[in-house]
Amino acid sequence: MTTVLSIETSCDETAVAIVNNRKVCSSIIASQIPIHTQYGGVVPEVASRQHLLIITDLIAQAIEEAGITWAEIDGIAATVAPGLVGALMIGMSAAKTLAILHDKPFLGVHHLEGHIYASYLSAPELAPPFLCLLVSGGHTSLIHVKDCGVYTELGATRDDAAGEAFDKVARMLNLGYPGGPAIDRLATQGNPTLYPLPEGNISLPGGGFHPYDSSFSGVKTAVLRLVQKLQAEGKELPVADIAASFQNSVARSLTKRAIACAIDHNLDTIAIGGGVAANRGLRATLQAAASQRNIKVLFPPMEYCTDNAAMIGCAAAEHLRRGHISPLDLGVQSRLSIMEVMSLYLSEG
Ligand code: KG4
Ligand code: ZN
Repeated sequence: MTTVLSIETSCDETAVAIVNNRKVCSSIIASQIPIHTQYGGVVPEVASRQHLLIITDLIAQAIEEAGITWAEIDGIAATVAPGLVGALMIGMSAAKTLAILHDKPFLGVHHLEGHIYASYLSAPELAPPFLCLLVSGGHTSLIHVKDCGVYTELGATRDDAAGEAFDKVARMLNLGYPGGPAIDRLATQGNPTLYPLPEGNISLPGGGFHPYDSSFSGVKTAVLRLVQKLQAEGKELPVADIAASFQNSVARSLTKRAIACAIDHNLDTIAIGGGVAANRGLRATLQAAASQRNIKVLFPPMEYCTDNAAMIGCAAAEHLRRGHISPLDLGVQSRLSIMEVMSLYLSEG
């Protein structure tokens, strides 16, 4: 049994957890959304300062809630990439300090590997190989999960992430930040086929489209033009219909790519993760298409879809069991491919 204390501060959630293999002993998430809402998005300096203000209290709280002692903790982990550099620094510095103080191994975790491991938290029997559809505010990827630390990114967005597109469209419709949940709610009252919107196909030089890569800037621009046209005509904006049509376009685009990718790679399970995995339109569209093809879809509960430290601890526990630990001079990185996860570890040997 491997017990890890893990910290996640890559963006606008300060989170600390204690995880025992794939079991969550405590998971505390302090969202900064109310603070960033007034700016309409995340302000990096504000995020770092806020992480710093509360991280020590959250660590104490996570240990207390788990009811464990330092002697029972086998390793200390923190997200080190990708993310906002200043924000990552706070979590990583806290983790390294605790590792030195309590003489425990330190593990620097890749944020997207954490999102992949969120699926193990809600389905501990899950085993590779499977396909992970990762759809968050910062990323949109199709990842072939082969083993711990062994990933191939088969598809990605060429521009905006899916969640970013939800947030930007929500801003055009004056729905506030973050936009995904607001669009999801409104879409239930709108007509999803009223406004046909592009599905973001990426043309290939020899003709045809890229089967797995996506683009969301086209649909975002199409919504903007539609809003401007309706406003110029002096019409009241049919906000629910626009939200439903936009959500339908994104759900169809993601579903088409995920199903094609799973079939082409002989993968019978799609695990979905990231904040957009909560979207009801996406869930319904993907579930319907997958069941026609005998593909299983795993939808983790919301608390593990959005950013949390439990998923980081779960990934770290698996690495630690395999003898992977990180050097204490490891730095943070704003960008790092999921395929380079193992560059964060030394082999214990
Ligand atoms: O995974 P996450 O918490 O943070 C990142 O790592 O980015 O994802 C946040 C994103 C935001 O863009 C938010 O608008 C979106 O997830 N989101 C949703 C829903 N809930 C959150 N998008 C669509 N429908 C939802 N229900
Ligand atoms: Zn995330």
